Amino acid sequence: MDKEAFFKKYPQHTYQDIIIHNQLVSFGTVFCEPRYNVIRPILDLFERPFSVLDLGAAQGYFSYSISRDYPHSFCVMIDANVPLFSYSQHGDMLFDLCKLNAHLDNICYLNKTITLPDLVFLNQNEHFDVIIAFLVVHLMYTDLKDQIQVIENLLDLGDNLILEVANNVAVPFTDYVKTLSKTMECLYLGEVKRRKNPDSLATGKLFWFKKSKPHYINHEEEDHMIGLKKETFLQLNGVYPENVR
Ligand SMILES: C[S@@+](CC[C@H](N)C(=O)[O-])C[C@H]1O[C@@H](n2cnc3c(N)ncnc32)[C@H](O)[C@@H]1O
Repeated sequence: MDKEAFFKKYPQHTYQDIIIHNQLVSFGTVFCEPRYNVIRPILDLFERPFSVLDLGAAQGYFSYSISRDYPHSFCVMIDANVPLFSYSQHGDMLFDLCKLNAHLDNICYLNKTITLPDLVFLNQNEHFDVIIAFLVVHLMYTDLKDQIQVIENLLDLGDNLILEVANNVAVPFTDYVKTLSKTMECLYLGEVKRRKNPDSLATGKLFWFKKSKPHYINHEEEDHMIGLKKETFLQLNGVYPENVR
């Protein structure tokens, strides 16, 4: 598949901006770059290779940007064809985008609608330096109790959890995150406009939850491993890179 075939296959507007071969080739309906600019100072702290979990990666804007700008990072993207809003082809689209971005060797894609048991499994097998979970947790479960359990799992799974929550949907969850942010080590990164539609009042609030002793610097960590276990890749329906199977 080439770029033209991709846009023929998916003629509708995409959610995120599309990156192919390190270039921004098409704009999506939501703002991406301003959010990337918010998280870059956190990624800049790492003086060693680092791993990123991009939960609900959509068209992979953040992972493709990170893997381009931080070649020593390793990004694990998770998404699927979720039957919600306009996300029903997101899984397929991301797989095609992986193939169009095959020059990157620090990207992996798990094509799975993630559930709490999946997060428990991930916690038993993996750990990430950074997790980005932008506008996704409230879509995984509608019940606040389940959403809270997702957050608890993500806080265990990563040293740095960067969460984006919405001002106008799942408001009890947003309120929960605001309250939680005051009880632990967390930096409020600010509020960004979500949709490019000038009439939209939708915003995202970004929070950086961090472990109290993060290991950014590579001293006693020479054997620091990044990557994903083959077992994890197989269990969570890893589809890219294809040669892992
Ligand atoms: C609102 S969009 C946000 C996309 C991206 N994180 C961003 O902020 O630009 C939510 C994304 O999460 C995905 N998603 C929703 N529930 C999911 C689940 N349980 N497992 C994996 N992906 C999910 C959707 O397919 C969609 O791509």
